[in-house]
Amino acid sequence: MTDDTVRPGLEGVTVAETRLSRVDGEAGELLVGGYPVETLAGNASFEEAVYLLFEDRLPTGRELDRFRSELAAHRTLDEEVHGVVRRAAADGDPAMDALRMGVAAASLGIDAEDPRTAATRVVAVAPTIVAAYWRYRQDEAPIEPDPDLSHAANYLYMLTGERPSDAAVRGLETYLATVIDHGLNASTFTARTVVSTESDLVSAGTAAIGTLKGPLHGGAPGPVLDMLQSVHESGDPEGFVRDRLDAGERLMGFGHRVYRVRDPRAAVLSSAAERFYAGTDEDGFYETVEQFESVALDALAEHKPDRRLATNVEFYTAALLHGVGIPGTCSRRRSPSAGRAAGWPTVWSNSTTTD
Ligand code: ACO
Repeated sequence: MTDDTVRPGLEGVTVAETRLSRVDGEAGELLVGGYPVETLAGNASFEEAVYLLFEDRLPTGRELDRFRSELAAHRTLDEEVHGVVRRAAADGDPAMDALRMGVAAASLGIDAEDPRTAATRVVAVAPTIVAAYWRYRQDEAPIEPDPDLSHAANYLYMLTGERPSDAAVRGLETYLATVIDHGLNASTFTARTVVSTESDLVSAGTAAIGTLKGPLHGGAPGPVLDMLQSVHESGDPEGFVRDRLDAGERLMGFGHRVYRVRDPRAAVLSSAAERFYAGTDEDGFYETVEQFESVALDALAEHKPDRRLATNVEFYTAALLHGVGIPGTCSRRRSPSAGRAAGWPTVWSNSTTTD
């Protein structure tokens, strides 16, 4: 019998299985590659975490060395790809558009029939594309990756041209391992829809990047950072929160399709941010972050008493990445207001598709 019930956001619909991660939204627990996210993110390098998801186990020392070399060999961009990224930067296209087009261009010539090679290329090349885009935006020459540096260290190095501190690398690695997989969130769901048609991995990756770009999904940290910086300047979190909610706007970095308690990734990243800023928070930015979280949570509890709106991963992502030196997103960003009434789509995610 046909069931014609429309289930917005696939609420309650199970569409696929995954062995990569398991999300328990009620308990606020996340397993990645079989490990609690707190354990993985605190201990694994980005390379180890990727290997775990590729191979379903952590690498031996020798396997890790080989994988690092494989990534290093795939990290550089040729002149044609630079041309695409340079053009995106010159046109003021958002970084995520540069990433989508750069990944597509960088995968030309890669054997699309070999998903392992294609996946390695996509993973390796992403920071090179974003760093080059950022340098072009600043009218600066891009910096070639250094094969002796790790994935995370290379990203920071290619952005700034300076060897990053251990604390910055550790902060970035923690972030990357924390967000490396999350059930069937909206972008993963998109990618799986693409590969289900027997299309290729690069097509799936570029479609997923397009989904991730949305401000209700992976595009939230930029607006969160804008919000935090604005509150830091004004020194008035209560006024800011009140104005936003009165105007029917959403507070970015709060609420989640699946978690009804604090997102466990927010907990991992807030600890990482606290460690990172300890002793270095001269202008009190991190103090503002903590103060803002507390004010926002109180206001949201009053604003939506029937719906538990807790801190999500993007709130502390913004704080941590700002600290380690990742520039905020730039250009043509839209700020979401309160949902469908204002013409914004509801993000397509829930128990089957989780953010
Ligand atoms: N601030 C204020 N109100 C909110 C917020 C928020 N952050 N989040 C939800 N609400 C309100 C909505 O306006 C809606 O109110 P209504 O019933 O009066 O229309 C109600 O709560 C339910 O909202 P939905 O969009 O239906 O809830 P859903 O669980 O689908 O939304 C989402 C999840 C999209 C993440 C939402 O909480 C949101 O927009 N948050 C802000 C953006 C954000 O932080 N995105 C990052 C998510 S994490 C990630 O993608 C990795």
